[in-house]
Amino acid sequence: MRTLTIVLLAMLSILYFPCKTAAQDGKTIYEKRCKTCHGVDSKGSASVAKMTKVDPSMLDLTTDKNKKRTDADLIEIVRKGQGKMKPIPKDKLSDDDLKMVISHIRTFHK
Ligand code: HEC
Repeated sequence: MRTLTIVLLAMLSILYFPCKTAAQDGKTIYEKRCKTCHGVDSKGSASVAKMTKVDPSMLDLTTDKNKKRTDADLIEIVRKGQGKMKPIPKDKLSDDDLKMVISHIRTFHK
């Protein structure tokens, strides 16, 4: 009975964790790749705005403009760059990682 419980618990945790980690991994990758400029809550870093001479709202990924953007739109900005933001190529950030980063940014869109 005890072994069965352990086996069942192990199976449950395998089933449970993959769904949980997507947003968490997205958070880790976001914090590594985007946080310096876009801030921990993706509202933008004031000092980077000053340094790059962009309006702070351009670094805010939680604006209505960005909420309305589709995932494909956001992916395009990251891959092609926009204004002062340099493109981030696939060898620096894979498609899967970028998708997870976007789901993390979406958690600030609520
Ligand atoms: C070195 C600093 C830097 C990093 C790192 C960075 N960005 Fe940016 N990002 C910028 C700047 C500066 C802009 C404003 C560009 C402009 O339009 O002039 C910007 C703009 C954007 C925009 C468009 C915002 C808007 O309102 O139009 C999106 C979306 C975006 N970044 C996503 C990301 C994501 C996702 C990451 C991480 C994978 C990332 N950025 C990493 C500097 C950065």
